[in-house]
Amino acid sequence: MPVSSPVQLDRRRIDELTSRELAALNARTTASEAMYARARQSLSGGVASSYQERDPWPIYLVDGEGPRVRDVDANQYWDFHNGFGSMVQGHAHPAIVEAVRARVALGTHFAAVTEDTIVVAEDLKARFGLPRWRFVNSGSEATMDAIRIARGLTGRDTIVKIFGSYHGHHDAVMVSIGVPYDNIGDRENLASLPYGAGIPADVVALTIPVPFNDAPAMERRIARLEKEGRKPACVIMEAAMMNLGVVLPEPGYLEEVREITARHGIVLIFDEVKTGLAIAAGGATERFGVKPDMVTLAKTLGGGLPSGAIGGTEEVMAVVEDGSVYQVGTYNGNPLAMAAARASLEQVLTPEAYRHLDALNDRIVSGCEAVIERYQLPGYAIGAGSKGCVTFSTQKIVDYESFKANQDIPVTELAWLWNMNRGIYMTPGREEEWTLSVTHTFEAIDDYVAAFEEMASALTA
Ligand SMILES: Cc1ncc(COP(=O)(O)O)c(C=O)c1O
Repeated sequence: MPVSSPVQLDRRRIDELTSRELAALNARTTASEAMYARARQSLSGGVASSYQERDPWPIYLVDGEGPRVRDVDANQYWDFHNGFGSMVQGHAHPAIVEAVRARVALGTHFAAVTEDTIVVAEDLKARFGLPRWRFVNSGSEATMDAIRIARGLTGRDTIVKIFGSYHGHHDAVMVSIGVPYDNIGDRENLASLPYGAGIPADVVALTIPVPFNDAPAMERRIARLEKEGRKPACVIMEAAMMNLGVVLPEPGYLEEVREITARHGIVLIFDEVKTGLAIAAGGATERFGVKPDMVTLAKTLGGGLPSGAIGGTEEVMAVVEDGSVYQVGTYNGNPLAMAAARASLEQVLTPEAYRHLDALNDRIVSGCEAVIERYQLPGYAIGAGSKGCVTFSTQKIVDYESFKANQDIPVTELAWLWNMNRGIYMTPGREEEWTLSVTHTFEAIDDYVAAFEEMASALTA
């Protein structure tokens, strides 16, 4: 929760500090500037994905080891970005390096199942309590296929998602994500809005957004859709939102969503691309104790190799097994990715690793909370397992509406620059959180908290 009577931050001071920190970062990343000039000649925007863009130039990396990364200017950072939250194992973990090294010499692609794929499915089955699994190569593929399975099972086209949530870059879910606050519509009737150009209006209209942490609003919208003859096939959601910083489910919310979807015969999909294997051994499903009909995984699953998975109940996955829904892909269950995933699950993401992540999380959240308290900053720290953030807001964020209305954007942007100049490599973007790895130490955490304290002091001087 935010402190009750926070200091009023001086907006001019924030601007001054931001200009100073931006100039400092520019000065120490001149090799990135040069690489950007070269990259733009062949790579659109100088990057491989638009999420890697940054003004005035992206920071280009060379390598990483454990909790650290190094950029092309030879700046060293503690990595709290971790590949958009994928590298919970840390970089170049010896167990994963060895598994990949051994596999690469044995052939890396057959489009036939290798034993590692079965072992990974068995492990995920035990962790998530869902009996049937399939593999894909990214989070987008996982959510795309999960939605198709739900549609195939129910014979319905409409789907429900949470307003503001990101589920990947395919058309069905590129709807009602980051849009101007005044366009979102009223809470009972949130608008279906395309996220960028190129998404057919007819597809957008099939995706209905509802607010997070408001089960009654979800049920009312479902009831209206039913009346209109548009009963949804599924609700796809993150059990804890991971793209408004971190927004945890309020007590009882997930249980209510489970009950509503079950009662209406709607498939409940927990998109665990960010939370799965990252906030507990069995992801949000384990942490919050609510079992969905389907789970989607990616990011942490592959230990740095492109991978994703869909888990489901026998009933749901029956439409895959009987051939009525095609769940396919040349690289699904790729041997290299599966070897890395197996090594990660068996040797890295162990019960001890989750105890360590929880201890790191306790230390970083309580350290940041103490700084917030000491300087009476408008904000609060929040975390679960490897994920967390400081949210700069005088109000608690519970959904997209409260995020848009309250997040202090200039301070959030300053914090990113501040960290980068103090050896803390953070995910760019105002919506992002930190990701800790099992190789992070208390030293890394204490450096993070010290940089935060230095910023708090400068902001309130
Ligand atoms: C919750 C969630 N689902 C799906 C995706 C899409 O994953 P990918 O980028 O691997 O396609 C993301 C990516 O950030 C995500 O955060």
